[in-house]
Parts: sequence; structure tokens; C-alpha cells
Amino acid sequence: MDVDAATLSGRALYDLLVDTVVPRPVAWVLTLSADGAPNLAPFSFFSGVCARPPMLSVSVASKPVLGSDGQRRFVPKDTVSFARERGHFTVHIAPASQREAVASTAADHPPGTDVPALLGLSLNPGSWGPIPWSPDLPVAMECRLEQVVEVGEPVTHMLLGRVLGWHVQDALVDADGRVPSGWDPLARLGISGYLPPRNLQVPRS
Ligand SMILES: Cc1cc2nc3c(=O)[nH]c(=O)nc-3n(C[C@H](O)[C@H](O)[C@H](O)COP(=O)(O)O)c2cc1C
Repeated sequence: MDVDAATLSGRALYDLLVDTVVPRPVAWVLTLSADGAPNLAPFSFFSGVCARPPMLSVSVASKPVLGSDGQRRFVPKDTVSFARERGHFTVHIAPASQREAVASTAADHPPGTDVPALLGLSLNPGSWGPIPWSPDLPVAMECRLEQVVEVGEPVTHMLLGRVLGWHVQDALVDADGRVPSGWDPLARLGISGYLPPRNLQVPRS
């Protein structure tokens, strides 16, 4: 199949992009609302950007809302608003075994819901900034928001975060301070699939 991107609808462009840019790691991003409630949401448009300084990107599409005039308009997701307000966010990498919990945090929760508490995730205060992190997850990266790049229409906000520090569970770290592969980080594979944990059969469909 040869596809001219210029001929595709927005939905078809999205489908082909997420079907072919695979696998994608999943950033489980913790932010704090203005009143201090923790907000947790997954994003697979996520990547490392630069090592010196350590930078990563998380791309967050706008969400459609219905205005009082009945017109649909697009507004930033909470992660973008909260990261902008606080200037910081924390990216966690979850194990593949927690994919249902991760996916459940993509739902819209009433404002002020403490989603990490609902999932039984404990939080520690940030070591390098104001955003907490969960010691229950293998990896947490405390980030300072360096830049927001606005791309596309309706706008996607690409958060460029500088990693101020890592929290990696001790059991994952070898004698050289490296984190060898094999800890089953959650990754997205296609539109609805996830990279399965090691030792499990890939379901054929
Ligand atoms: C595995 C997974 C990956 C996702 N990746 C993205 C993404 O890269 N960009 C995006 O805008 N939304 C993505 N979503 C949807 C968001 O998680 C969802 O819109 C969420 O409600 C945003 O939360 P917030 O409003 O608290 O920021 C993803 C959802 C799942 C389950």
C-alpha cells in the first residue's frame, strides 16, 4: 500500500500514525491541580529528546468540549494546564502488568479526584521540585517544564521537560548503575494493543 498523507482524513492519519510508529513507551504523567489534587494520565506520544541536558517530550492533543452555545471547541487537557501552572510534572514508567490500571487513568475523572489513591499508589514528595512521585512504580522522572511547542490544528501541546532527577527501584539497578532490560516496561503497540510482558504468548487476532 502506498498512501499519500495529503489524501487522508484526520482519523485515518491518526490510525496510520499510531499503527506504524510502534512500539511507543507510555509515560504515566503525574501533575498537581491548582488545589493540590494529584492528576495521573497516560501518554504514548512520548520520547527522549536530548541527553545533555536530559530532556523528554510528551505530546498532548487538545480535547473536544461542547460550549454553552452547542458548538464544539478544543481545550487543553488537564495535564497541559497543570504542568503549565506548576512548571513541573513527573513521568512514571509502569510495568506492563499494570496496563489496565494505566488505561483506566485515561478516563475523565471529576475534578479533585485523587486517582493515585484510588489505584492504591502511594506518593512521595518531590525531591527536585513540587510534584510527587510514586515509589510503587519502577521508574519516576521528575521534570521541569522547559517549553511547550504548539503543533497542528486543533493544537497539540508538546511538553518538553528537563529531567531533574530519576527514582529507579533498587531491584532494577545493576552493579554499574545501569537498568538492564527485562523489567517489562509498558509500551503501546498499535491502536489498541500493548507490548506483552516477557514470557507471555502474543495473542493472535
Ligand atoms: C495507553 C494510552 C496512551 C495515550 N496516549 C495519549 C497521547 O499520547 N496523547 C494524548 O493526548 N492522549 C493520550 N491518551 C489519552 C489520555 O490519557 C486521556 O485523554 C486523558 O484523559 C488525559 O488526561 P488529563 O485530562 O488529566 O490530562 C492515551 C491513553 C492511553 C490509555
